Amino acid sequence: MKFLVTGGAGFIGSALVRHLIGASDAAVVNVDKLTYAGDLRSVASVSRDPRYSFEQADICDAAAIAGIFRRQRPDIVMNLAAESHVDRSIDGPAGFVATNIVGTYVLLEASLAYWRTLDPAKQAAFRFHHVSTDEVFGALEETGAFNEDSPYRPNSPYAASKASSDHLVRAWHRTYGLPALISNCSNNYGPYQFPEKLVPLMIINCLAERPLPVYGRGENVRDWLYVEDHARALYRVATAGRPGSSYNVGGRSERSNLQVVKAICAQLDALRPRRRGSYAELITFVDDRPGHDFRYAIDAARVERELGFVPSVDFETGLGRTIEWYIANEEWWRAHLETRYAGERLGLAAGH
Ligand code: NAD
Ligand code: DAU
Repeated sequence: MKFLVTGGAGFIGSALVRHLIGASDAAVVNVDKLTYAGDLRSVASVSRDPRYSFEQADICDAAAIAGIFRRQRPDIVMNLAAESHVDRSIDGPAGFVATNIVGTYVLLEASLAYWRTLDPAKQAAFRFHHVSTDEVFGALEETGAFNEDSPYRPNSPYAASKASSDHLVRAWHRTYGLPALISNCSNNYGPYQFPEKLVPLMIINCLAERPLPVYGRGENVRDWLYVEDHARALYRVATAGRPGSSYNVGGRSERSNLQVVKAICAQLDALRPRRRGSYAELITFVDDRPGHDFRYAIDAARVERELGFVPSVDFETGLGRTIEWYIANEEWWRAHLETRYAGERLGLAAGH
């Protein structure tokens, strides 16, 4: 079995590549453009395995992608390549439209052309798994949860671009018969996450004794899933999910942003105490994100019932592992802070 994983040098993609090489017999082709968010050091632990190969390519480049399909002949395509940061989509949506919408279209077309050349048995086994987000469903109030029938109501440019790509995937299945399926997941956290995201930014700012910028009053709620659990769920969806279906994946770990930041501070107070006081004293309330979705929550009944997926670690355990990883791997994130992103505020629509 050969998997073609796009975005395999990113946060979730690299966890998936490590999982596929480490926990299955599959071969993996990692296709990644290596944008600011891509880092081959995240797959260094598996990159010498003879079942692993890397192709540097832009998923918007139809000729390059067609060439990769011809050379590599995958059995399963998993599309994780994306512009993924909501704040950056507010400041500059163009790259989100290009990669998330046009790039997905290019991959669908390449997959369809290749799929049509396969013999019937290979055609029946082929899968195009599109990895998406719960943000396509918009914002919840205090109660309720998104299920697979929730209406699409994306609010940020990022969410709208992911919603568009989901619709393209659905259409390529319904119209052309491509065996495609979608998963929509909640917020991930864990090792190798780029420092722009909430959890790594707060850990790194604590370690540097810098302010911890909490948007608004910190009351917005997210449902948190440890990235290695998400990688396990993705493997189940790609190999056992029903073509034409979508699967909501979540962590059953709803927390307000302030709870998340305080949990990070409390764990660091125990692991690496400040000379005086708590890291929580660094919490600083800052201007809110424009269009900030209040709450996301996932009803994961389908993925539990049909695919037997449940998260293996709770939030506090996963957070502890994540904090220990950032403490032990300073050279990984410091390289990004020095060359790609220094921790500045993003997403206030400056100049847009
Ligand atoms: P990430 O930003 O860490 O990584 C994205 C990867 O895609 C990078 O390696 C980057 O180099 C690559 N890439 C970007 N544009 C490309 C292009 N045009 N061609 C080829 N490669 C390109 O993202 P992530 O957090 O790992 O998210 C992966 C996927 O999962 C995305 O599709 C995202 O929408 C989805 N998702 C993320 C989360 C989350 O909490 N991070 C939750 C649900 C779904
Ligand atoms: O829900 C899934 C989505 O989760 C994924 O599709 C996205 O790719 C991923 O980036 C993530 O989006 P969020 O916008 O929820 O993640 P982020 O880490 O940017 O922010 C999490 C919450 O924390 C959000 O409510 C905004 C807030 N926040 C974020 C940052 C960076 C802060 O309060 N302060 C910050 O400095």
